[in-house]
Amino acid sequence: MINAIILISGVGTNATSIIKETKFGILKNKINIRYVISNNKKASGIEKIKELNIKTFTIPSKNLTRKEHEKLILKCMKEQNTNIDLIILAGYMRILSPHFVNLYKDKIINIHPADTEKYKGLNGYKWAYKNKLEHTFITVHFVDEGVDSGKIIAKKKININNLTLNQIIKKGKKIENKFYPQIINQLLD
Ligand code: GRF
Repeated sequence: MINAIILISGVGTNATSIIKETKFGILKNKINIRYVISNNKKASGIEKIKELNIKTFTIPSKNLTRKEHEKLILKCMKEQNTNIDLIILAGYMRILSPHFVNLYKDKIINIHPADTEKYKGLNGYKWAYKNKLEHTFITVHFVDEGVDSGKIIAKKKININNLTLNQIIKKGKKIENKFYPQIINQLLD
């Protein structure tokens, strides 16, 4: 069993889906999600995660520098006194500093709602929609010091031809929720 944590900022559909797989599905007896951290007090995902009996921490980042905020995260992790093998970013809306990334080198992964080689940054589905793409991708990648620039672990193609933006988001998220745990599983193997 490896110890992992998840960092979120929002609704946490990927986080809840990964947690469910660790409890009842493909990640059972493989990953122990020790706790989930949100940097956003209003992250609705936290309630759903608590219902799954996972420990949660809210460590607000508002008005803090990256360094100040990460110091609090590292303090929290130290207090939990568990060696963390994998940090899963799931809709975590902060860029991690090179210092943090280097502390957990090759142990931080992220899911991005586009092909990171074609589009980095926020609102990947909107980018695909605005560019009238027939298909787009979801990317799971390692986190390095840049923005969405880490080594790609896997990509999944989604057909979005003739869909509205809302339909693209709905379809994409549903696929992400399955794809992310699957790729984490492959990574462990
Ligand atoms: C997902 O679209 C993910 O690809 C992106 O942020 C969104 C998070 O969604 N990085 P959720 O909070 O997991 O529902």
